[in-house]
This record gives sequence, structure tokens and C-alpha cells, in this order.
Amino acid sequence: MNGLEISPFIAALPKVELHIHIEGTLTPALRWKLAHRNNIPLPYETYSELVDSYKVTYNHRRELNGDNGAPTFLETYFAGCQVLCTEDDFYELAMDYFRKAAEMNVRYVEPFFDIQAHTKRGVAAEAVLDGFLRAQRDGAERCDVRSNWIFCFLRDESVESGLEAYRTARPWATTKDGKGKGLFHAVGLASNEYDRPPLLFEEGFRLAKEDGLHVTMHCDVDQKDAVDHVHEAIFQVCAGQGTERIDHGLNAIDRPDLMQGLKERNIGLTLCPHAYHRRQATETLFPKIRKLWDEGVKICINSDDPTYMHNVWIDGNMMKVYEYCRFSEGDMIQLVRNAVEMSWAEDEVKQEILKELEEFAVSS
Ligand code: HPA
Ligand code: ZN
Repeated sequence: MNGLEISPFIAALPKVELHIHIEGTLTPALRWKLAHRNNIPLPYETYSELVDSYKVTYNHRRELNGDNGAPTFLETYFAGCQVLCTEDDFYELAMDYFRKAAEMNVRYVEPFFDIQAHTKRGVAAEAVLDGFLRAQRDGAERCDVRSNWIFCFLRDESVESGLEAYRTARPWATTKDGKGKGLFHAVGLASNEYDRPPLLFEEGFRLAKEDGLHVTMHCDVDQKDAVDHVHEAIFQVCAGQGTERIDHGLNAIDRPDLMQGLKERNIGLTLCPHAYHRRQATETLFPKIRKLWDEGVKICINSDDPTYMHNVWIDGNMMKVYEYCRFSEGDMIQLVRNAVEMSWAEDEVKQEILKELEEFAVSS
């Protein structure tokens, strides 16, 4: 399923990542180190037991499939978060990611972060935000990876706690009054969307928009009410303006009105093919991605939570669509251009990456 070798073309392709959860990049090695540094007990005696725990097949949705004894992805992801305690921990997490991103020729990234997952454990919001802010600067200076981050409301927590988290984090945003610290420039929705539709968070979107921030939201794949959630995201949220992007959103192909809405409103999908490939056969999944592309829905390719998904990063995800959607080299370059256009990077950064892609197209 994940055994494709990265081709030299995919490795060298300059990349833009718009769908990655920074907490989903925590490596077993860093988790082990931080657990010991912070005296956080792990349910594994040895490092190799911890590494082996990543080989589990998750229960996709316990609410839908019942309990089969396996953890859900989100339980594993939030269990990993437990070791992140100090500003230095958050800094190291992000710097590890930036170094990895640079190796894969990622030029620009918009990482998601889940501040509620940390403050609810008693971690100070400042530790999280200052750690990421320092890494944002050092990632750009030392790794040449620029970033603008995305604050996520945890949709299975109360709306009120999400709004409170937003108000706490706001001084670190790129607010239109120019007074913010410039860490994050958008809000998103993450975590379990079972019975938690996008419209529940309308007040959060309103506050973010008022501050001049962008809005995106997860519409997870094959979730209960998946098409209704995509419908809300396209047509109803933000006082009917709709979201600017959808994270995943693959179920849009189940209804023509959703496909039409995505195109008319120019809402792009940040797809993470390997995440779906864990549960869908090659012959089922990749024709769906191909169909979105052929019908003119704007898509880009991303990695989601690579360390919890068999260590498949953006290059591995790109390799999958290159191989299984039979995309040409030109198509792959266009997918990165799509990501540039879907991004909310500064114009200068966008132009720089587009120019590099042009040169890459000529030389490849
Ligand atoms: N969906 C929802 N929440 C998440 C995800 C995801 O793919 N990854 C991390 N949090
Ligand atoms: Zn995601």
C-alpha cells in the first residue's frame, strides 16, 4: 500500500503543503525523548515497542463500525500529544518538521495546530504559540521553508472552549489591525466531526473573518453525514459565503451540486491520498481523484499526519497520484501550482515558487 519508491522527478519537484497537522508529524524518536525529558509515562517498555505501536490498523469510526478493540486514529494522535509540554518541545516538534520538509523540497507550508489539545492538559497557550512562532522564524531562516499557520477549532470540544482558545491565541494571529505576531493567518476545523457539522462553528468563523483571517475546514471522508457537511462548507458557512478551502472533501464527488459548487465558488480541496488509501482499494480511490481533476475541481496533494500514517509524507502522497492516477510530469507541476494558488501566502512568496516551477518545468 505504501511501498512506492519516490522517483527522482517527484523528489526534486518544489512543493507546497497545505494540509499537515504539526502534531501529526511527531516522530516516535521525538516522542520517546520528550516522554523521558518530561516524565510522561508511555504504555511501552521499550523504544521498539513504541515504534511497533504505529503499525496498528485504526478503527476508522467507532461510532459507525463499533468497537473492534483497535484505537481510532484520533485517539492515537491525541495520545502522542501528551509528551508536548514546554515551549522548547513545540519548537523542536516544528523544527524537526521543517528540516524534513526542506529535504523534500517543500518551499512553503500552512501547518494546522490544535491548541485546545494542549491547554486542556494544563499546558500554557504561550508555550505552544511562542514555540511555534520561534520555529516559524527559524524554519524560514535556517531551512528556507516559509510558513503561515492555521488555528484549528477542535470540533468535538464545546464551541465555547473553541472560542475561548481563539481569543487566547488571537495576539499570535496575522490580524488586519497589524498588531498580531503573525504566526497564523487562518482558522480551520479538525478532530472528530461525528454529529459536529461545520455550521456549529459559525461564530468562530465570524470572529476570524472580522479579524481578517482565512477560513478552511475538514470534511472527513466517508464520515456520517459527509455530503451534508460538504454542502454546509460550500454554501452555508460564513453567512452563506462558504469556506475558502475544504480539507479532504472527497465525498463531493457523490453529488453533482457539490462538484458544481466547488467549481463555481473556486473552493479547492486539500487531498491526502494515502490517508484514504489506507481504507480504499487502489482501483476505487484513484479514479475518484482523477475524476475531480478531469472535471476541473481544484485539488492539491498533501500528507495530513505522516508519522501516524505509515511515515508517508508529501513526496509519498505525490508519488501515489503520479503512479495511480497516471498523471504526467506536467500534471504534477500543475498540482503544485494549484497549491500555490490555493495558499494564502504573501504574493511575493507565490511568485517566487511559480517562477521556480516554471524553471523546473523547462529543465525536467
Ligand atoms: N481529520 C480531522 N482531524 C484531524 C485529522 C484529520 O484528518 N488529522 C488530525 N486531526
Ligand atoms: Zn487533516
